[in-house]
Amino acid sequence: HGRVQNICCIGAGYVGGPTCAVIANKNPHLKVTVVDLSQPRIDAWNSPHLPIYEPGLQEIVELARDGSADRKPNLFFSTDVDAAIAEADLVFVSVNTPTKVSGTGAGFASELSYVESAIRKIAEVATTDKIVVEKSTVPVRTADSMREILSAIGKPGVRFEVLSNPEFLAEGTAIPDLLTPDRILIGSLVNESGLSAASALANVYAGWVPRDRIITMNLWSSELAKLAANALLAQRISSINALSAICEATGADVEEIAFACGTDTRIGSKMLRASVGFGGSCFKKDILSLTYISETLHLPEVAAYWRSVVDINEYQKDRFTNRIITCLYNSLTNKKIAVLGFSYKKDTGDTRESAAISIIKNLAGERAKISIYDPKVEERQIWQDLQGYGNVSSVAGAGSVKDFVTVENNVYDACADAHAIIILTEWDEFSNKAIAKPTAAQANKPTNGHASTNPRMDWSRVADTMKRPMFVFDGRNVVDARALEELGFRVECIGKPGTNWAKERMLQAQTGKGASPV
Ligand code: NAI
Repeated sequence: HGRVQNICCIGAGYVGGPTCAVIANKNPHLKVTVVDLSQPRIDAWNSPHLPIYEPGLQEIVELARDGSADRKPNLFFSTDVDAAIAEADLVFVSVNTPTKVSGTGAGFASELSYVESAIRKIAEVATTDKIVVEKSTVPVRTADSMREILSAIGKPGVRFEVLSNPEFLAEGTAIPDLLTPDRILIGSLVNESGLSAASALANVYAGWVPRDRIITMNLWSSELAKLAANALLAQRISSINALSAICEATGADVEEIAFACGTDTRIGSKMLRASVGFGGSCFKKDILSLTYISETLHLPEVAAYWRSVVDINEYQKDRFTNRIITCLYNSLTNKKIAVLGFSYKKDTGDTRESAAISIIKNLAGERAKISIYDPKVEERQIWQDLQGYGNVSSVAGAGSVKDFVTVENNVYDACADAHAIIILTEWDEFSNKAIAKPTAAQANKPTNGHASTNPRMDWSRVADTMKRPMFVFDGRNVVDARALEELGFRVECIGKPGTNWAKERMLQAQTGKGASPV
């Protein structure tokens, strides 16, 4: 397969766009064309207003897409899928693989129709040899089906080699993750042609990634490694969240637990932050896919194990809503509740599977008046998510979602006259904690991925406008609760004894009632 000169990427989404922008940026001699069926998405990639928000992305796209005095443009976005495939010698398939909504495996299995139609397109169009790279996250052994389709449809004499090259970037830090990846994983068949294709792809990454971080292995290991990595990451979050429930019931503090456990080098400190639950397009779908794979392999115990990671996540969201209801005297009817944060995590505008969606649905069911503020999520996206979610309006018994939800473009309007503030995304501007200085190592990272552009909110200004008693439910542990209590707030944090807890314990101590296990 020699050296790659022309790359096509099918799918201009959160993965295809940033990944190809970095590949083009770091390999000025390559031509990289990202294609998509969606005209608006391609138009946005070709405009000053990119379709996704990711710190550092804009500069990287602009340099490769528009060129500069000393470099020619080498990054293109287009809807002409056929032309881009035809001239490429390597094609990334980076289309969406969501959970199936109907048919066999509905609710668990991955929907592979987008991948399949991309593969069929490659086979139909190709008149020269192609390396076809699975970038999308797919079930283990998908490459088998892809090879079969390619050889059944492909023109005689045209050779295809299928590689697996899963993407490990995390939204919000995609650019630093791509610039300095922990590893690049390439899976291939272990024969001459497979290994030569793997080495051609490795050369593309070697444009900026040290060779010892480019790992090659067999195709099936590579496919499964991506599902495994996401399952392990999500499992840590569900584990700390399960512990947060014990903390809230006992007076232990989950941040102290995470610190105490995280200093054990066998455990490590990352991904041990308790929260209202994980979101994003990948964790849930990938674990459900792993669950389904386990079931089809007749491994029900394994399936149940991984499924419990998702179950705990759902439980955590419901538990959080219940805590809000209990603290607000068991009635939310007509109470204004300010929701701060709608994206599934900070530094992204992505709302897929955001905990905010299900929590707002729960609050709407209690007939609360919900006021939402998020620094990056566009208003129309919020309406789309709330309309699309299990018919929220019928839950609330109202005519339309707009009868009980408003979207504000600043934090102060969202919080005015509210009974409670609920923090659902850890955007820096919601925090009142001292800003930590970046460590030397972070400061040396090419892009530090830290770009909350808005200033910190003024909590005392908010306090002046709220209804009494003023509650804050911190679903991300971003506030310094003691400091807010000094301003008169009652603060309830994940995995920490809250106002209610203190009240109950005090009552028990005074009356001697209530069997106390502690
Ligand atoms: P996305 O939904 O943002 O982008 C997929 C794009 O593919 C869409 O713009 C869609 O219009 C396009 N598309 C679908 N079928 C097509 C076809 N036949 N021809 C041309 N374009 C087509 O999805 P995202 O988030 O980029 O994810 C892509 C894959 O990468 C998924 O398998 C996902 O699991 C995986 N992944 C996602 C990560 C993330 O953080 N979002 C991280 C790592 C992997």
